Amino acid sequence: MNVLLTGGCGYIGSHVAVVLMSAGHEVVIVDNLTNSRRDVVDKIAEIGGRPPSFYQGDVGDVEFIRDVIRRHRIDSVIHLAGFKSVGESVQLPLKYYQNNVCGALGLLQAMEAESVSNLVFSSSATIYGNPQYLPVDEAHPQHVINAYGRSKLHIEEMLRDVCISRPSLGAICLRYFNPVGAHHSGLIGDHPRGIPNNLMPYVVQVASGEREFLNVFGGDYPTPDGTGVRDYIHVMDLAEGHVAALNHLSLSTGWHAFNLGTGKGYSVLEMIRAFEGGSGRAVPYKITARREGDVACAYADIQAATLGLNWKAKRTLEDMCSSAWFFQNHLSTRRQGSGR
Ligand code: WQD
Repeated sequence: MNVLLTGGCGYIGSHVAVVLMSAGHEVVIVDNLTNSRRDVVDKIAEIGGRPPSFYQGDVGDVEFIRDVIRRHRIDSVIHLAGFKSVGESVQLPLKYYQNNVCGALGLLQAMEAESVSNLVFSSSATIYGNPQYLPVDEAHPQHVINAYGRSKLHIEEMLRDVCISRPSLGAICLRYFNPVGAHHSGLIGDHPRGIPNNLMPYVVQVASGEREFLNVFGGDYPTPDGTGVRDYIHVMDLAEGHVAALNHLSLSTGWHAFNLGTGKGYSVLEMIRAFEGGSGRAVPYKITARREGDVACAYADIQAATLGLNWKAKRTLEDMCSSAWFFQNHLSTRRQGSGR
């Protein structure tokens, strides 16, 4: 299939691009590069053995997207482009509604105008808010508690309405838990700008000596060791879930949502120990105050995705940690080579 991949230069997007190409799909990336790097396209080409098509631009620019769809005879869209910092979304909610919701609106208008009827949407487990029961299934109440999560929920609801109005449309919302790790080549991985918000990239930078120690946000949660528990999933398993969703759309229409996680939760201290084992490097840490907006424990009920998508995460915690460390080493080597 000819797949339009928005946000394809990002952490998740680049891994989805690689998996799509290895499955024989033609990949057309649209990315405005506000939160990603252009050289990722070259890395995707190096891994995939051929370059994806790439356009720098905004998904909300209807005529621009319509032109890309026509030019490449796009069959399906995988929509990942969007801002994703929970903390920033609390400070700047309108920035998130403008970029995430209005961007998705423009993309949907372009798809409708060009009769494209398959969409896989990058949603998030954040829409569930504080888990009321565990594991969290797709029917869990959606008491979202920040603008980032609410922007994702608004887009899911828009997709529901469009699927009602266009019975030929198929839309699958993939609710990510905590993606970590990197492609085994070390060429692509989680490379955020500035100070990492998320646990794994911060741990990696402490292990590499780039940062002195990790702040563990809270040691008094009602969890086995008092630190936060999350469902960490290897980014390659997550990427393969997107291809499984695309295959599902070739057989069905209508609106669907699936959790993408492993069904297992690990605490921050367990992640530190696993990373130290996988990298052979110490990760010094200090337990500090809880982070505003964090939940104690969240992990996925994965039955729906296992049955509905015929997909299941298969990589281990060790794979997640060792691949993240391997990517960091590649980054450091490249920086030394370029004198930066
Ligand atoms: C994981 C655990 C922290 C950093 C967020 C978004 C979610 C998704 C993934 C987009 C928590 C602890 C973290 C640190 C720490 N993104 N932690 N020190 O908050 O579960 O999810 O990222 O879809 O939508 O909400 O992930 O990696 O930030 O935190 O102790 O420096 O690590 O308290 O328990 P989170 P995270």
